[in-house]
Amino acid sequence: MDRGGLLLEPPVGQAGGGRIAVVGANSAVGAALLAQVRDDDAPDTVAVVRRPEVLAGLPQSPRITPRVVDYGRSDRLAEAFAGADAVVHLAGILFESRTSDYRSGNVEVTRAVVEAARAAGARHVVFISSLGADPRSRNGYFRSKGEAERIVADSGLGATIIRTPLLLGPGTAGGRALLAAASGPSARVLGGGAHRLRPLDVDDLCRTILGCCEQPAAGVRTCDLVGPETLTHRELIERAADRLDREVRIRSTPVWLARLAAGLAGLVRAGGLTAAVIDVITSDETVERNADGELGITLTPLSDTLARLCQTRPK
Ligand SMILES: NC(=O)c1ccc[n+]([C@@H]2O[C@H](COP(=O)([O-])OP(=O)(O)OC[C@H]3O[C@@H](n4cnc5c(N)ncnc54)[C@H](OP(=O)(O)O)[C@@H]3O)[C@@H](O)[C@H]2O)c1
Repeated sequence: MDRGGLLLEPPVGQAGGGRIAVVGANSAVGAALLAQVRDDDAPDTVAVVRRPEVLAGLPQSPRITPRVVDYGRSDRLAEAFAGADAVVHLAGILFESRTSDYRSGNVEVTRAVVEAARAAGARHVVFISSLGADPRSRNGYFRSKGEAERIVADSGLGATIIRTPLLLGPGTAGGRALLAAASGPSARVLGGGAHRLRPLDVDDLCRTILGCCEQPAAGVRTCDLVGPETLTHRELIERAADRLDREVRIRSTPVWLARLAAGLAGLVRAGGLTAAVIDVITSDETVERNADGELGITLTPLSDTLARLCQTRPK
């Protein structure tokens, strides 16, 4: 044992000691979730990461027990999950790389997490998916998220699958990109930023996840949780710029041109900004029904989310 009770891969049979286990605890959502566990009256939580070097960046609390586990080892994951009623699965990728593709990063890791949750006797898996997830999609990202959802739904465990839009918060990729775009004199956006978004405050998502973990799952529930306002990407940048007291000139890169450039770049490198990613980030975020009421969450107004985000911008 070292560093605040950290155990690296505990021996078989040793209890994880938490009532929630979070896989991908160093993700943006994971960090926000652990901050709520630290600050609020939340249950003990096992924070599972796959690299020891990220441990120092995790929120620290006596209620949080970090574990380093190879996500490919469902037996090791099961050891980390021991004693947890709920497993929250946050590990996943949008950008593929030379070492990580949608199959390994989104599908296989989900298979291992679910297998481990079952072996550990967890009663509830909470899986963060994406709007547009569909196992029949022609888009590799949406297909992989759809396949991951199916693995969770077919696991025999109680499950809540939450499909999310662009997540906004100081630590999220979307939050950082928005601040960068709104801070400069001009911002270049795909398709003029005409696609419609339903940005969700990452703290709202985390409160929802913790709320789900407190209840035993009644079967499998799949729902869309989006933010309170619909607006275009362009309008979102303008709203953030307004908050920062700046004027931003929006410039457009045609989507077809970006796809062509991504196709050419794909000839010399794997992953990065591929056509699949471009299609995901320029998709309209539309839902038939927002699950905020069903999940018992009061959504933060977008203006408050933007105000908090803009406060974190370095002066
Ligand atoms: N952020 C959004 O706007 C958004 C929107 C819709 C859905 N989601 C989903 O919500 C979840 C959390 O998102 P996030 O933005 O908080 O994630 P994030 O900050 O990008 O973190 C990704 C997490 O996945 C892990 N990971 C990356 N590649 C992996 C691989 N090949 N195998 C196993 N684990 C891998 C990372 O671990 P390492 O650091 O060790 O690589 C990290 O813990 C993800 O499943 C994401 O797809 C996010």
